Parts: sequence; structure tokens; C-alpha cells
Amino acid sequence: MIDLCYTTSIKEFSEIFNMSPQEIHDFFSDNQLEQTRIGNSIRVTPETFELALKAKNIKKSKMILTSSCVKGGVGKTTLTHGLSAKISCLGHKTLMIDLDQQANLTSSFGIDSSMGSIPSILDVYRGHFQGKKISITDAIVNITSHLAIIPANLEMASFESEFSSKTENVGTFFKKLLKPIQEQFDIIWFDCPPALGKITSAAQASSNLIIIPINSDKFSIDGLDLTIDSIVTLHKNFEVNPEVKIVVNKFDSRQKLGFQIVSYISQNEYKDYLSNNYISVSKQIDNCIASKTNIWDPRFKGPAQDDLKNLSLEIVGADKWVAVELSLSENNDLNNNLNNNLNNNLTQQSDNSFIGVTHV
Ligand SMILES: Nc1ncnc2c1ncn2[C@@H]1O[C@H](COP(=O)(O)OP(=O)(O)OP(=O)(O)O)[C@@H](O)[C@H]1O
Ligand SMILES: [Mg+2]
Repeated sequence: MIDLCYTTSIKEFSEIFNMSPQEIHDFFSDNQLEQTRIGNSIRVTPETFELALKAKNIKKSKMILTSSCVKGGVGKTTLTHGLSAKISCLGHKTLMIDLDQQANLTSSFGIDSSMGSIPSILDVYRGHFQGKKISITDAIVNITSHLAIIPANLEMASFESEFSSKTENVGTFFKKLLKPIQEQFDIIWFDCPPALGKITSAAQASSNLIIIPINSDKFSIDGLDLTIDSIVTLHKNFEVNPEVKIVVNKFDSRQKLGFQIVSYISQNEYKDYLSNNYISVSKQIDNCIASKTNIWDPRFKGPAQDDLKNLSLEIVGADKWVAVELSLSENNDLNNNLNNNLNNNLTQQSDNSFIGVTHV
């Protein structure tokens, strides 16, 4: 059964594409797309959203992302969970990879990975699980048609030392490991532990975008400095150049400190990395991860959910979707005009030549 939390409402669809209800109705019927009724509400499933993007000639984003910050508890897992789930609803096939031995991301989806019952990315690296050979595909747990996860478990604590003992190349490690599934997914998202070890560096090195969540406190700024330093070192040593987005999470507009932190970053050398989308502090989001409650349950609607949705749209570049559509339709109009002019000219020419021939 389709879970309402992993679908898009018609209202959201109309806001994203700037379409009126009538335009949506016509678009769905012209392209033979289905609206799905779940309970009292009409929804767009991730499959239908993907077909809608195709019908509008919009290319999906394809990228690897990492949530990383050496400071613990800033929201790495919450953002990975919330943003991956939302992006999957926007028709993007999304795979999350839990790199943290705490396995919070894994358990937040209600997956029990205790006692090593399901393979992790460490087992994929080792190439075997419970005495049998495994490939990366065997470790993927599907959550919906467009959202999947490679779980973590406590045993991941030894990943770092196994990795180091084999002197693996940090710059190419994950690119090689992910190669067999790279085509299968649009978005691959690593959730890192609060540490800056080689595994975190390897995830960062394979990424197009690194999301660094910070909170409104001094320790977050120290964590940010250390995390950015590690990315600069990566850049120097492995010639990788991931984009960086600093996301202020748990932002409380009633507290001065939040504004002070934002103003501090806006004036220092990291100012270009600061995302305009802050994530508000939210009672409903607090504990979502621990209590395995879905952030996207429509009953929890609030500013933080809106902020997360806006950040998801920013990440997949949805602000350009309407422009792509407009420029395509303008191009079509232009082509039609050109074709019409060309046809008119040809008709005139052939008429002329016909006239000419008869005259001769
Ligand atoms: N916007 C928010 N509003 C309120 N609480 C939040 C918000 N974002 C995250 N939290 C809460 O903060 C706590 C820490 O979040 P989370 O586990 O995502 O951090 P983390 O950086 O992944 O931690 P760790 O470093 O231990 O992996 C959780 O209880 C989570 O529910
Ligand atoms: Mg975490």
C-alpha cells in the first residue's frame, strides 16, 4: 500500500510548477498520468512525479551528497532522512547510505539492523555476509519505489581500521564501490558519524555536494571550522571539488543567538556556502528520529517541514524547472514560427516559380 507520507499533494505540485488546478487536470489527462486517491486526499506518487518531469522535458538532478559535521547532534541524520524522503517524492530515485555505527538513520525508518541481521556497506566492502558472497545490490533495502537505504550496524565501528589497514585510496574508494549501482539512482546520500575519519573523508571525496548542518551555538562554529578544514585538505590531496552548503538547523527566531551565528557566517570567509534555507526548530521534528515518526506525516505540518521542503527543492534545482518548461515552450513557439515562416517562404517561392514557369 502507498504511504501518504511518501507522496506529493496536488497543492504542492501546483506550487512547484506554478500551475492552476485546471492546468494540472489538463496536463495529467493529456499525458495519461494518474492522480492517486489515498483516504480523502488526491496525491501524486513518486512514479507519477517522475513521469510528469519526463513529460515536461525536465532533467532530474543526479548527484552524490554527504551530510557531515564533526559536531554531534546538529541534525545530520534528521536532514538526511527528511531531505532524501522529500527528494524521492519529487520523482528522484534516492539511496541513503548509513555510515554511522549508531545506525540512527537506519532505525529511523523502522529497520532493525541489530545483531548484524542485515548487511551494511562494511559487508559490501568485505564482499561477504554470513558466509556468502554479496554485492552492493544485496545490501539495498527498499523503502518505497523511489527511496532505499543501505543500513548500518554497530559492527561499522571497525570500518575505519579495516579501511586504513588496507591503505585504500580515500579519493576513489566510494566511486569504485558505488559504480555498479550508480545508474540505478539519481541521488545517493551518505549520513556520516560525528567524526572526521577516513570513511567520512572518502564519502566527502565522492560527493558533488556536502551538507554541513550547524546549530546556533559556539561549538557548532568550531565544528564547522574543523569540517571545512577537512574538506580543504581533501581538495588539496585528491583534487576533488565538492560544493558545500552550510545549513543552520534548529533555528529559533525568538533567540538572538541564531541571528548572531547567521550574521557571523554571512561576514566571514564561508559566506558563499551559507544556504538561504534555515531549518526552524520544531517540537515535532525533535525526537522524530528516535521515535521513528515520519517527518512528512501531513499531521505534523509546520514551518520546519516547509523549510525542509524548500531546501529539497533548492538541492534538486526545482527553481529552474518552470524556466526550463517556459524556454522549451518558447523554443517550440520560435521553432513553429520559424517553420511557418520557412513554409510560407517555400510556398511563396514555389508559387513564384510556378508563376514563373507558367509565364515562361
Ligand atoms: N529542526 C529541528 N528541530 C528540533 N529538533 C531537531 C531538529 N533537527 C534535529 N533535531 C533533533 O536533534 C537531535 C539530533 O539530531 P540528529 O540525530 O539528526 O543529529 P546528528 O548530527 O545526526 O547526530 P550524531 O552526530 O549523533 O549523528 C535529534 O533528537 C533530532 O530529533
Ligand atoms: Mg546522526
